[in-house]
Order: sequence, then C-alpha cells, then structure tokens
Amino acid sequence: MIFVLGFVLFVAIAIAGFSHYRDFDPYIQNVLALEQNIQRGQEIFEINCAGCHGVYATGYVGPSLEHLSDRKSDTQIIGQVIDGMTPPMPKFQPEPQDMADLLAYLKRL
Ligand code: HEC
Repeated sequence: MIFVLGFVLFVAIAIAGFSHYRDFDPYIQNVLALEQNIQRGQEIFEINCAGCHGVYATGYVGPSLEHLSDRKSDTQIIGQVIDGMTPPMPKFQPEPQDMADLLAYLKRL
C-alpha cells in the first residue's frame, strides 16, 4: 500500500515537474539573463520569420503575432521558436543573444 502511494506521489511530482521543466532549461536561463536589443531582434525577425508571419508580424502563412506576450510567457515564446512542435514552422537554433534580441522584439508586438 505504501508502495502504491509512493508511486502515485512520484508520478504526480514527475508530471508537475515536467510542465515546468522549461523554466530550468539552461538555454532558456541563458537567454533570459542577456541584455536585449530590440532593433537587432527586428532584423532577425525580418530575415527568419517575416516570410511566414508577415513583415509587421500581422500574419501570412503563420498567424499574427500581435500581442503575443498577452497569451504566451517568455519561456513559451522561446519554446515555440526552438522546439519545432508546430509544423510547418521550422525549428530554429538561434545563438542565445539572437534569441534574447528576438524575444525583446516579439514582446513589443
Ligand atoms: C514556414 C513558416 C514559418 C516560419 C519561417 C516561422 N513560423 Fe512561426 N508559425 C508558423 C505557423 C504555421 C504557426 C502556427 C502553428 C500552429 O499553431 O499550429 C506559427 C506559430 C508561431 C508562434 C505561436 C503564435 C501564437 O499565437 O501562439 C510564434 C510565437 C511564432 N510562430 C514565432 C515565429 C518566429 C519568432 C519565427 C522566426 C524565428 C517564426 N515563427 C518563423 C509558421 C512559421
């Protein structure tokens, strides 16, 4: 019985931990600790993202990204860029500084 309870507790903790695991991702920690340059972020966006999301991020093949930070946390925005979970959006592997600048730009939309 104790064993069963222990197992249930273990699974519950594992699930709770998994939903927050991104907060401890070293790449994301690194990105969030950097200074952000919005101007550079805009340039990175125009090169990599504008083809699908539109030059002003108002949507094209991909959805509009206006007011993105109202519905997604910093961690979720970074995850969207690096995870490749929503094809046809590709998986990007930006340098942490590029991701930090891009994040600053995306949060201004
Ligand atoms: C090949 C086209 C394509 C490219 C290039 C692309 N995206 Fe996307 N993006 C999409 C599509 C399609 C979706 C919607 C996916 C879904 O919801 O299933 C999406 C979704 C998103 C979302 C989630 C929007 C929301 O409302 O939650 C974010 C944020 C995003 N993209 C950011 C970016 C950024 C930043 C870049 C450049 C680094 C980029 N995308 C490049 C196609 C693209």
